Amino acid sequence: MGLNYYHIFKRVKEARKLVIKGITAAGSGHPGGSFSMAEIMGCLFYKFLKYDPKNPLWPDRDRLVLSKGHASPGLFSNLAVAGYFEKSEIETLRKLGSKLQGHPDFKCPGVEFCGGSLGLGLSFSLGMALAARIDKKNHHIYTIIGDGESNEGQVWEAAMAASKYKVDSLTVFLDRNFIQQDDYTERVMPLDEELVGDDISEMWKNAARWKVGDKWRAFGWNVLEIDGHRIEQIVKAINTALQVKGTPSIIVARTIKGKSVEHMEDNPKWHGVAPNPQISPIIDLELDCQFLISPSIIAGDMTNLENEVKRAAHGRSDFIHLDVMDGMFVPNKTFDYEKIKQLRPLTTIPFDTHLMINDPVKYVKNYVDAGCDIITVHAEVCDESSFGEIHDVLHSNDVSVGLAINPDTELPVWSEKFIPTLDQLIIMSVIPGKSGQKYIEATHEKTQRIYKFLQDKKFEGLIEADGGVDLTNIESCFLDGARVFVGGSAIIGQKDVRIMICEFRKKLMHARRKLLIQKAHSLGGNDLVNKWIDLHEVGKKKTELLQIAKEAGFV
Ligand code: DX5
Ligand code: ZN
Repeated sequence: MGLNYYHIFKRVKEARKLVIKGITAAGSGHPGGSFSMAEIMGCLFYKFLKYDPKNPLWPDRDRLVLSKGHASPGLFSNLAVAGYFEKSEIETLRKLGSKLQGHPDFKCPGVEFCGGSLGLGLSFSLGMALAARIDKKNHHIYTIIGDGESNEGQVWEAAMAASKYKVDSLTVFLDRNFIQQDDYTERVMPLDEELVGDDISEMWKNAARWKVGDKWRAFGWNVLEIDGHRIEQIVKAINTALQVKGTPSIIVARTIKGKSVEHMEDNPKWHGVAPNPQISPIIDLELDCQFLISPSIIAGDMTNLENEVKRAAHGRSDFIHLDVMDGMFVPNKTFDYEKIKQLRPLTTIPFDTHLMINDPVKYVKNYVDAGCDIITVHAEVCDESSFGEIHDVLHSNDVSVGLAINPDTELPVWSEKFIPTLDQLIIMSVIPGKSGQKYIEATHEKTQRIYKFLQDKKFEGLIEADGGVDLTNIESCFLDGARVFVGGSAIIGQKDVRIMICEFRKKLMHARRKLLIQKAHSLGGNDLVNKWIDLHEVGKKKTELLQIAKEAGFV
């Protein structure tokens, strides 16, 4: 089984957009904490929780307790995406008579706990778990607590009791975003260490300084520590927690408050403030502009691919791009599913497998079994029927579905019916066959055209730029509409993969900021550009944005 990466990714994005829609319409609400837990919610709703939106009180359902109830928009948006009610209802958030209030309430189907007063959710969850034990039920209870609410003594009383009663049907997430209402947690009541000054970035980066896991260990809990925005890490941690017997588990998820919206990230002000309605469309575009980097390991030492995977993982790549060549579809031969099977245990990072092989329908299941998370096949060697078969095999195995087209291939007519469920489209910008070739310039125009076409056809996946992508052209590729970027010779072919990935990200960030400035300008001229830039208070963002705006001829 794959990770179901894009299935989760797409819904997390949709839920974030609904949060913005709801809070903007209400004029109040809590975006910061809704966004820090967005990926956690996504993994729970779209991979683990057992529920039936048509029968919200189904006795055997798993329970999700949102103890940090002020982040209710983050829960409601997922309930809507999961089908408990119409997505348009999110616009009734916090309105009189609506079931979607500022804090979760039983009026809303799917809500298990009226979180509002903080610190109570863990005790409530423990009660649920003990009741299930008495009733001989084996549903699981997932609870999300905040780091701010961990100031409450009751959290620790519940922690002691859960461990005493060996409650292993309880998995808790600590949304560790280092910010509580109005200020940094480490200033109000440190869970790790007292914050001196204003800069939490060092504290966030330096894992050696995190101690909150030790507190929970001392209370007898199984503790897992992860990056709470990486889908693969969340999935792995939940799977591990579910296997541990005789002990409750807590997943300490390091998160960023306001994650995915630059001006909200790490800024305590965005704990509980609504965006200005003028700004919301810019945020919406920003959410559409998340990008991913996928280093291609064939650009490295082919005799030691294990090391290439490790270099990519060390560089914190989003995916690992695996170019499979069979010596027939393309003249070269690289490796096949047997090699992928050997590489799989080295990392949890999603394997983005690009099959440059003839007859993919014959072999695709081998690649599923080898542990690939995304599998892309070439349009040139598929037709409606074989791609349909591949599409279904991948979907039923939680593997994301990709289609690739060569530089001289257009999207085939038969592919149109798959567009709404397609996860990834690779637009090749070199003739497939080897890394290190020059980017074919005509791909820019082609990508822009296809990007527009796909938007009209309700494509929810991402375009991947593959072939000759480097620091000189990546910004243009982004502006064309690509959101995933393969880097062979420009990343893996370089000495320091980590630095190259950082450089790729910097360029992408620059292009994204430029696009958002343009958007602000088109909506409200220089006034809105300035207003939007002013929101970027943390660190050096504002100065950098002003520079970009100036370069682009605005402000
Ligand atoms: C080409 C492959 C690409 C390629 C990337 O057939 O699909 O993934 O190896 O390498 P660069 O970035 O060097 O073109
Ligand atoms: Zn490739």
